Amino acid sequence: MRVVRTVAELREALGPHREAGERIGLVPTMGALHEGHLSLVRAAREASDVVVVSVFVNPTQFNDPADLAAYPRTEDADVALAASAGADLVFAPEPAEMYPHGYATTVTVRGPVTESLEGAKRGVGHFDGVATVVTKLLLAVGPDAAWFGAKDAQQVVVVRRVVADLGIPVRIEVGLTVREADGLAMSSRNVRLGPEDRVRALALSRALRAVQTAVDDGTDAAAARDAGLKELAADGIEPEYLALVDPATLEPVTVVDRPALALVAAYVGTVRLIDNMTVTPAPTGAL
Ligand code: PAF
Repeated sequence: MRVVRTVAELREALGPHREAGERIGLVPTMGALHEGHLSLVRAAREASDVVVVSVFVNPTQFNDPADLAAYPRTEDADVALAASAGADLVFAPEPAEMYPHGYATTVTVRGPVTESLEGAKRGVGHFDGVATVVTKLLLAVGPDAAWFGAKDAQQVVVVRRVVADLGIPVRIEVGLTVREADGLAMSSRNVRLGPEDRVRALALSRALRAVQTAVDDGTDAAAARDAGLKELAADGIEPEYLALVDPATLEPVTVVDRPALALVAAYVGTVRLIDNMTVTPAPTGAL
């Protein structure tokens, strides 16, 4: 397993594989790898001849300097885990490699896909940071396919928008959210939850399941949302948002008569968590 720190080294390492017509897969990460990331690396391994994992805590996508400072950095463990899941190369640049002195370009995506939900709470600058770094990573690696986790559902929509709008020749693949046995969506932030908050954090996935249960009984999105809010309130959690939206446009839905995305974001103690599930209406039985 090789670790490279510059785009030049990365291109040199990938050059012979590209010339040989091999399929290159990329799994972009901010490190602190967990089973969710590793499932993406394994999926990339299955579909690619060469797998690159990028490990870069991207400063431009953090709206809160304290969150950036507290973000876990565990590079040695990340390299070992990436190798164990089948990665061939880790690209772990320093911030100055990605944003050298004089850097002045930002990829911005505007409209509901960035201005709602995470964008409304964290500011659209968050997605400017994501769109910019993902574009730079795709340009640096030139992969045939790149893998992203479904937990960051809005990020996936934004990345797909960037790739379509800029005509970047890459396939975007999405891996299912990996959960702990008790339902908590895996996240690099989970390690910062104290024991009591770790238990309270289960309210997020419970709330999403309650939304589905309500949708089983009727298609009114407001009633389904109320059912989710009740679960959160039982644990004293007031979400930043709990929303039912169209999975492609992220526009709010009022009637769940087709699959919708239920998304939640909330602080549990000092840790901000997000989760989502696709909710589907009960079959009508009419054929
Ligand atoms: O999902 C993440 O870890 C990050 O947002 C990404 C895609 C690696 C960009 O920094």
